[in-house]
Amino acid sequence: MNKYDVTYEYHGVLSKSIGDINGISRTDILAYESKIKAGHENLMNKRDAGTTGFFNLPDKTEEAEEIIRRAASKKEGIENCLILGIGGSSLGGKAVRDAIRTPLYNLMPAAERNANPRLFFAENIDPETFSGLLDLCSPETTLVVVISKSGGTAETMSQFLIVLDWLKGDLGDFYREHVVAITDPEKGALRKIARDENFETLEIPPNVGGRFSVLTPVGLFPAALIGIDIKSLLEGAKAMAKRCENPDLEKNPAYLNAVIHYHYDVSGHKPLSVLMPYADSLLSLADWYRQLYAESLGKREDLHGHEIFCGPTPIRALGATDQHSQLQLYMEGPFDKVITFIRVDRYRGEVEIPSPLSYETPLDYLSDHSLGQLIGYEQFATSHALMENQRPTVTLGLPEINEYTLGQLFYFFELQVAMMGELYGINAFNQPGVERGKVLTYGLMGRKGYEETVKELHK
Ligand code: PA5
Repeated sequence: MNKYDVTYEYHGVLSKSIGDINGISRTDILAYESKIKAGHENLMNKRDAGTTGFFNLPDKTEEAEEIIRRAASKKEGIENCLILGIGGSSLGGKAVRDAIRTPLYNLMPAAERNANPRLFFAENIDPETFSGLLDLCSPETTLVVVISKSGGTAETMSQFLIVLDWLKGDLGDFYREHVVAITDPEKGALRKIARDENFETLEIPPNVGGRFSVLTPVGLFPAALIGIDIKSLLEGAKAMAKRCENPDLEKNPAYLNAVIHYHYDVSGHKPLSVLMPYADSLLSLADWYRQLYAESLGKREDLHGHEIFCGPTPIRALGATDQHSQLQLYMEGPFDKVITFIRVDRYRGEVEIPSPLSYETPLDYLSDHSLGQLIGYEQFATSHALMENQRPTVTLGLPEINEYTLGQLFYFFELQVAMMGELYGINAFNQPGVERGKVLTYGLMGRKGYEETVKELHK
């Protein structure tokens, strides 16, 4: 046991803690043993056949060293890095930045950033924000990192065209040195442009889908640009992979969590899955989790082509903030949720609550404590109160937020979701449901070959 091992606690779902109606028993859990063994075999076959690449990423230490070297060579003289990407090409990197450097990172003075550049994730195509972002940066001191697995995503590619024009306008022929493209090794428009323009590139392994790609250059290169220890991130993922290699349900926290969530969705009438970290730095991780869950598990058809319309709905909440927004609903509303807490045992900064008033007040109980103690007690109290109200909860305990614990969380959730895909009998690695909207947008934007789709819209 490493002192930074993440703990997994599930007594909050057991019948003995929350009663028979909403709780589950050890027997309920063990009833899934054979399904889990079969699912594990399937997943290992996919790993060995090389179709599902996320399993192998924690071992890619040499690639990480190369990424660190390339990031160091690109950030000289750079004050701002602009990451263009959306969905799986953005959420993981942002989760890493916020978890390790806190959401305040870009506001810190350069000295506190160890002279590393600011790191902006453009994501959306809202013209107000995007033009505002460009106004904040100057081409001479900006590095643009464009990330797209397919190399053709309309949002990312339109941002890219705008930014290329912006760079060219100021830098002339030197614009190429301010661009790094991260994409498929062979396919897609971005790969072709990168070749034609001689841009520096990094590869996304073809067998790793967007939402499982945080431990490829997609998440690692932006992290390396701001000095995050990406090798430790991989070490954490590797430790979790090792812990979860045993299909024995009671020894495998990711599979156990998969069973608990699957069971509550299909048999327990609880299709809502809330992830509630008690740390601002982990709110972006909850966004990443939401996409991983939603795109992987929300499916119309099972593997045999039968319509099943499955998938729990992921929700992100923040402790303690959402105790004053969502908690009333979680506590007394419908019995339709499973809540996953992320508890932090030691915060990286601490603030004591002083007693600045020289007379007695009803606030005296707060003084002589710290904010870390207060948020810790609030998490404990909230989880206890939910249990009293027969609401199922599980808790992931982080000794501290660091690269090693974050790497464990990434791998834990990825494996959990992959196993849930097996339990539902679906393909957790595709996203056919988002295609139709894309095709209609192409038609509306006048893309060649999509003329007919516009006619369909006006029928
Ligand atoms: O998880 C996924 O596959 C998606 O969310 C993609 O990451 C997202 O659509 C962006 O795609 P791309 O990386 O091809 O630009």
